[in-house]
Amino acid sequence: MLFRQLFDTTSSTYTYLLGDEERGTALLIDPVAERVERDLTLMRELGLSLTHVLDTHVHADHVTASGLLRARTGARVVGGAAGAPCADIHVKHGDTLRAGAFTFQVLATPGHTDDSVSYLLGDRVFTGDALLIRGNGRTDFQNGNAGTLYDSITRVLFALPDETLVYPAHDYKGLTVTTIGEEKRHNPRVAGRSREGFIQLMNNLGLPKPKLMDVAVPANRACGLASPDNAQDRHQASATPGQVC
Ligand SMILES: [Fe+2]
Repeated sequence: MLFRQLFDTTSSTYTYLLGDEERGTALLIDPVAERVERDLTLMRELGLSLTHVLDTHVHADHVTASGLLRARTGARVVGGAAGAPCADIHVKHGDTLRAGAFTFQVLATPGHTDDSVSYLLGDRVFTGDALLIRGNGRTDFQNGNAGTLYDSITRVLFALPDETLVYPAHDYKGLTVTTIGEEKRHNPRVAGRSREGFIQLMNNLGLPKPKLMDVAVPANRACGLASPDNAQDRHQASATPGQVC
């Protein structure tokens, strides 16, 4: 398997490229609209054609590239059952997703948003914003729920083998990958904390609203194909670095 972890510096988003060099196919997880040319160029150089785009959830801090990539390549867009209506394939907990050369197990991991899913592929899991490295996504918008997220992390993700590699949708401190066992021991939000304690912590973070949220959420429900009316808003919001989701 060809595996690349790509980064968007504006939103601190990780996009993952998974390729099968024998078949010449690839998929992307959580691609960012502003990075479409980078991703297409990379796949072209590597001799890979895109078959699927997987979104872990409807993002609030950046606009997905899924719709643009579908238009450019014919790739199919995959998202959670409660997520973007524009997706071609809606997945739910327990589903097996065959995407090109890869077979994923779908894990529902709501709480950051109600549509959040994680994609398990062998010894690695792509957790979106449900579980970050030493952190987790916020729970104060998009039908987020701190108790639900605690259950997703501790009952669903922490049920995976400790050595499972965790690839999140963001990191703001320069870290790239962790493991389930590492997060069980060292995640300061969850390790040794009760469900009630987690809820209290999450409900008192006092984070500012993501600047791009009012644009990104409706755009992402349309696979990132925003209306011309808010293109200017999107450009201005995108120019602000360091947005925490
Ligand atoms: Fe998010």
